Amino acid sequence: MWAALLLPVLVLADSLALQPPATGCQTSCGGVDVPFPFGIGPGCFLPGFQIECINGSTPMLPDDSYEIKVLNLSVMPRPEARVMLHIAFQCYDATDGSAKDGASFRSAVIKSAYRISDTRNELVVLGCTTFGFTSSGPWGRRDSSFASGCLAYCDNDGSAMDGSCVGIGCCRVEIPPGLTDNTVFFLNDSASTWSHQGLGFSPCDYGFMVEKNTYDFRVSDLNMDGSSTTKPLVLDWAIRSSNVSSSVDNMTCTEVKGTPEYACLSDNSQCLNSTNGPGYICNCTQGYWGNPYLIGGCK
Ligand SMILES: *[C@@H]1O[C@H](CO)[C@@H](O)[C@H](O)[C@H]1NC(C)=O
Ligand SMILES: *[C@@H]1O[C@H](CO)[C@@H](O)[C@H](O)[C@H]1NC(C)=O
Ligand SMILES: *[C@@H]1O[C@H](CO)[C@@H](O)[C@H](O)[C@H]1NC(C)=O
Ligand SMILES: *[C@@H]1O[C@H](CO)[C@@H](O)[C@H](O)[C@H]1NC(C)=O
Ligand SMILES: *[C@@H]1O[C@H](CO)[C@@H](O)[C@H](O)[C@H]1NC(C)=O
Ligand SMILES: *[C@@H]1O[C@H](CO)[C@@H](O)[C@H](O)[C@H]1NC(C)=O
Ligand SMILES: *[C@@H]1O[C@H](CO)[C@@H](O)[C@H](O)[C@H]1NC(C)=O
Repeated sequence: MWAALLLPVLVLADSLALQPPATGCQTSCGGVDVPFPFGIGPGCFLPGFQIECINGSTPMLPDDSYEIKVLNLSVMPRPEARVMLHIAFQCYDATDGSAKDGASFRSAVIKSAYRISDTRNELVVLGCTTFGFTSSGPWGRRDSSFASGCLAYCDNDGSAMDGSCVGIGCCRVEIPPGLTDNTVFFLNDSASTWSHQGLGFSPCDYGFMVEKNTYDFRVSDLNMDGSSTTKPLVLDWAIRSSNVSSSVDNMTCTEVKGTPEYACLSDNSQCLNSTNGPGYICNCTQGYWGNPYLIGGCK
């Protein structure tokens, strides 16, 4: 299997106490609202929630290695960020079956505040002799504690059909909670099982997590340019640590309430433990709506 061992360095600021945003912070970028704890520029975001406004019009998550474009950020009713992420792919020479270009993506940004939403996304795998899977989480029986994947197969050039993702050229599967990266691995071996020799009509493996009900399989996607393709997906976010450089994610509601780090600053707000990964989120109590991370935010 092919894995990019890139370890992008987080460039986000360390900070001790959580603070409300400075005044005069930019509150949108390119038509996308940027509600606190997200923010643009120094003093405007909580640690881990920086947004970059590239060229004054394209909101991005800061990541040294990949461009992660932001489509939408929301605080209520659910803490979510919709982003565009690159797909993973692996292409082969159909004549001799040798591997050509490919990439299996991994983003460092997701590790801190974000997790890939297991309820809002699915894993899609495209190919004609392709087993694609995602794996993540802390060290388990193997090097991760979750794995989920599916097999896409086609007997011949004409067997895959537009709109049909049922295992012929395209398969889809639910993903587990807690996923911290969007890497998709593909099985390959020197024996014939996963060989792409003779598969001129489908020379590549593709895999991506994508927002449910947004991807419609096209046979022509079996020949798409993997390096330039991105797909929309939903990230859950939570306040996990006041120090994004630290690997300690130990903030739960009980531990953080009453400390200077407590981020639920509004009256009529409540603390909820995160349901996807460690940490906590704030919400307005029933009957109130707004931004629980701001003083007076829940109205
Ligand atoms: C199979 O994957 C390994 C990495 O795990 C890679 O070095 C090798 O080139 C791949 N072989 C083929 C035929 O794709
Ligand atoms: C920002 O502008 C530069 C120069 O015009 C351009 O090359 C680049 O692609 C732009 N970046 C984004 C994310 O729009
Ligand atoms: C962003 O998300 C909010 C809350 O889910 C929704 O009301 C809004 O329509 C979304 N905006 C876009 C551009 O998707
Ligand atoms: C954040 O964590 C890193 C790594 O554990 C540590 O070196 C650094 O001193 C911490 N920063 C603060 C402000 O606590
Ligand atoms: C989290 O763990 C760090 C290091 O073990 C500790 O210093 C800190 O007090 C803990 N924070 C909470 C909120 O429990
Ligand atoms: C949050 O999690 C902690 C630790 O697991 C638990 O003690 C606490 O009751 C939970 N709080 C809420 C509001 O669910
Ligand atoms: C936050 O509160 C709103 C309004 O009461 C509710 O609809 C929503 O489900 C709550 N969000 C979470 C994550 O519990």
